[in-house]
This record gives sequence, C-alpha cells and structure tokens, in this order.
Amino acid sequence: MNRSGTRSLFRMVLRFCLAVVGVGALAVAAPADDGRDGPNQQERGGPGQQREHDLLLSGQQVFRFDTFGDEAFWGDTLRLHQAIEGSRFGGVGAGVSPRTALAVGLKVDVDALPGALQRALRAGQVNLDDPAVTLTLLKLNAVVGLTGSFRSGLALQSIGIQCALCHSTVDNSLAPGIGHRLDGWANRDLNVGAIVSLAPDLSAVAGLLGVDQGAVRKVLAAWGPGKFDAELFLDGKGFRPDGKTAATLIPPAFGLAGVNLHTWTGWGSIPYWNAFVATLEMHGKGSFSDSRLSDPSQFPIAARAGFDNVRSEPDLVSSKLPALHRYQLALAAPRPPHGSFNEAAAERGGRVFNNARCNSCHVPPTFSEPGWNLHPAGELGVDAFQADRSPAKGYRTAPLRGLWTHMKGGFYHDGRFPTLLDVVNHYDPLLGLHLSAQEKSDLVEYLKSL
Ligand code: HEC
Ligand code: HEC
Repeated sequence: MNRSGTRSLFRMVLRFCLAVVGVGALAVAAPADDGRDGPNQQERGGPGQQREHDLLLSGQQVFRFDTFGDEAFWGDTLRLHQAIEGSRFGGVGAGVSPRTALAVGLKVDVDALPGALQRALRAGQVNLDDPAVTLTLLKLNAVVGLTGSFRSGLALQSIGIQCALCHSTVDNSLAPGIGHRLDGWANRDLNVGAIVSLAPDLSAVAGLLGVDQGAVRKVLAAWGPGKFDAELFLDGKGFRPDGKTAATLIPPAFGLAGVNLHTWTGWGSIPYWNAFVATLEMHGKGSFSDSRLSDPSQFPIAARAGFDNVRSEPDLVSSKLPALHRYQLALAAPRPPHGSFNEAAAERGGRVFNNARCNSCHVPPTFSEPGWNLHPAGELGVDAFQADRSPAKGYRTAPLRGLWTHMKGGFYHDGRFPTLLDVVNHYDPLLGLHLSAQEKSDLVEYLKSL
C-alpha cells in the first residue's frame, strides 16, 4: 500500500474508532514511538553499526509482526477469524468481545492506539462487550501477536499469529492487559488452548493427530493459562501418564545470549527452534529439516506427516532467521524493580546459592552451563515424561535471570512448583543441603534479584 493509501486507511479506522467510542472531532494522533524497550536506542556509528542497527530493527519487526504466511492455517483452515468476528460480520457465533479477549490473556499495544481511543479507554467510554471493538483493535494492529487481514470494513478475511503472541506481554500502563510492549516476556496469562478452541473447524488438527475433534478440544482445554504443547504435533501425546496435561509453560525469550541448548528439553539452538516453531507450530510457510523427527517410535505423527524435511515454496521463514536471531540475542533479561526484593537477604542468599552448589549448573552470567547444559531427569529428582519427548532426552538447565517476570504459572517446565520456595524445598533433600528456614528465604530473595 502506498503512503496516501496508508494514511487514508488510518483516517478511516480513526473515524471508526471515534464513532465506536462516541468521541467528537479530534486532531489525528501522532504515530506511536515504537521500540522504547528495543534497539532504537542503539548507538549509531559507522556503516557497520548502521547495518547492525537495521538488522536489529528488522528482527524486531519479524518478532512482533511477521506471520510467515500462517494465515493459511489459522484463518483459511481453522477459520479462527470467523469466531472472532462473529455472525454480525459474516463469521460464526457471537464474536469475541475485548473483555473476552483480555480474559484469555491477549494483550493490547497502547502505542498502536490513536490518542482519542486511549483517552476513551481511560475514561471507560469504550464498550468492552462489543466484538466490533476487538475488530477495530485488530485493524489498528494493536493486538499483540495476532494480525487480522480484512475483507472490507470490519469483516475479516483471515488471521495470523506471531512470536509476540506467546513471548511478549505489556506493562499494563493504561489498564490491565493494555500497555507498552514488553518483548521477550512470557505471556503467562495467555490461554492458547482456549483461543485455538474458538476455531469452528479443528478437523485439520484432528486429522493430523488421527483423533476426533472432541478429543482435540479436550486436550486444548487441559492446557490452561501460560501453557502450550510444542510436541503435540510430533508425538500426539495430549496427556501425561498421571492424567495431567502434557503442555509446558511458555518460557521467556530474553536472556538467551550465551546459552547453548534451548527449550526446556534442549531441542537445539535458537535458530533451530525458530525455524521449527515458525514452520511446524505456527504453520508458517517455511523450510525445516531434522532427521530425528523421522523416528516413528518417538514421533509417530511427525514421521507420518514428513516433518523431518519440509520445504515451502515460497519460503517465508528462512530469509528472516538471521535478523530474528540477532534480535533475540539483543533481548536482555530485565532487571527487577527497586524494592521488589530484600537486598540484604539477597546478598546472603547469593552465598547460599554458591555454597549449595546451585552454581555448578546455573553458572553466571547466563545461569545455565557454559557448554552442554542438559541433565537426565533422575539428576533433578523429577519424572522423565517431558524429557523423553525430546530427541535430547534431558532437561536443559533453565537460565535464571528475570525469574521475577514469570512468577505466574509456577516453575520447572510444567510449573509443578508453584513458588520459588517450593523449588528450594525440592532441591534441599535432593542435594542433601539441610538449609535452615532463614537460608531458604535468603536464597529465594537472591533468585528474585536475578
Ligand atoms: C503459541 C505460543 C508460542 C508461539 C507463537 C511461539 N512460541 Fe516460542 N515457545 C513456546 C513454548 C511453550 C516454548 C517451550 C517449548 C518446549 O520447551 O517444549 C517455547 C520456546 C521458545 C524458545 C526457547 C526459550 C529457551 O528458554 O530456551 C525460543 C527461543 C522461542 N520459543 C522463540 C520463539 C519465536 C522466535 C517464535 C516465533 C517464530 C515463537 N517462539 C513462537 C510458545 C510459543
Ligand atoms: C544438576 C544441575 C542443577 C543444579 C545443581 C541446580 N539446578 Fe536448578 N535447574 C536445573 C534444571 C535442568 C532446571 C530445569 C528443570 C525443568 O525444566 O523442569 C532447573 C530449574 C531451576 C529453576 C526454575 C526455573 C524456571 O524458569 O522455572 C530454579 C528457580 C532453579 N533451578 C534454582 C536452583 C537452585 C536455587 C539451585 C540450588 C539449590 C539449583 N537450581 C540447582 C539444573 C540444576
């Protein structure tokens, strides 16, 4: 779209917003200052630095806005957009109100909203029960990680998802769920299962897994907030032997520079996993190779579907991997806010961390091992179910920086330990530590300080 086309679309959307919120004439809002937490502040120097800056910016763009063509799956196949728009706009059912969207953990980027709409939201003048408002937010590209393409007016053509859906949240500066983007933060409010379940047609997923749609919906309903199952499409395991969901927590995507293996179970490097996720999970049009997935005993679904070697024409993923990788490496773990932990206790806790030899695995500054950072389940005193779903057959030493950003959902890959004290209580007998209550609470303060 050319510039004047973009401008008139913007004006049209703004006019619509004003109509929706019932606000009078207003000056057009200035475009939002993007990337406040991103690489915009990077110093610019010679041509090398300019190139580096451009690479970071394009990586940020991919992370936030690129669907890799996955609309073909989420829209054309699952028809998720029809459930979002509802029958009033040509879809099915009642549509998704902003209240429902926020309740399932979707986030709204305040910087994408015109000033008038921001003021109306602040004043409580926006009808949060009207699906038309959700569609307006989508049209403004303000829903984090979810992008609609429109047929005409507010009628959706399709919908796609982005990395930011799961790996970004917002700072709630305007209201709960509405604020500035925080890239790399795990969205532990996001109920991916509930969102996917909205889709009127899950026959493609059911077909892939070789079950009926009812069984798929049962699996999705069990995920709950903050969880997703990246292995479901490979091994078809919806539940663990103990009957609980097989999904894992969404991890942060920051603080990963210098860490060797990625994911809870060490599937591979960041670019490996990015290609995997974009192609096999988001169902973007990408290319992906991993001969480990051709093993029908471990990965019956993947082996049958040929996921060990996928080629798309055109390939909308591969060319973006370098910039995406560069951006992820630039996402440092955020420092905990002042006053969020007891400093004196944290200092004592740091000594407990070292004396207890937590640092034999969690080695600063990454707090994972330099080198091979994978451990068999037995060494950690936990079951091997999730480890055995990965070709690496182990658990990766979780990097500990920024723990304070994901206190919701619990700790370890499946959130089995609700609090950091529960984690410490797990290690105490496992490592034969005999920590006093004081030492345990000091250690927790230290973990909160990372
Ligand atoms: C639907 C939610 C969802 C989306 C979308 C998503 N991820 Fe993830 N991501 C997860 C989950 C869940 C895991 C953990 C998987 C596991 O360990 O089995 C994960 C793991 C990761 C990791 C490993 C983190 C670590 O600690 O090693 C990286 C890196 C990552 N994702 C990047 C991305 C990128 C880049 C995209 C977009 C191309 C993306 N993710 C899209 C849910 C998502
Ligand atoms: C043998 C290596 C090893 C040692 C020793 C170790 N850890 Fe861990 N730690 C791990 C692994 C591996 C995981 C990831 C477990 C999982 O994914 O289920 C982990 C996870 C964690 C987590 C949860 C992180 C998250 O994002 O959920 C915390 C907190 C933690 N460890 C703290 C400690 C403390 C405190 C000690 C010392 C008392 C310690 N660890 C000792 C390997 C180790």
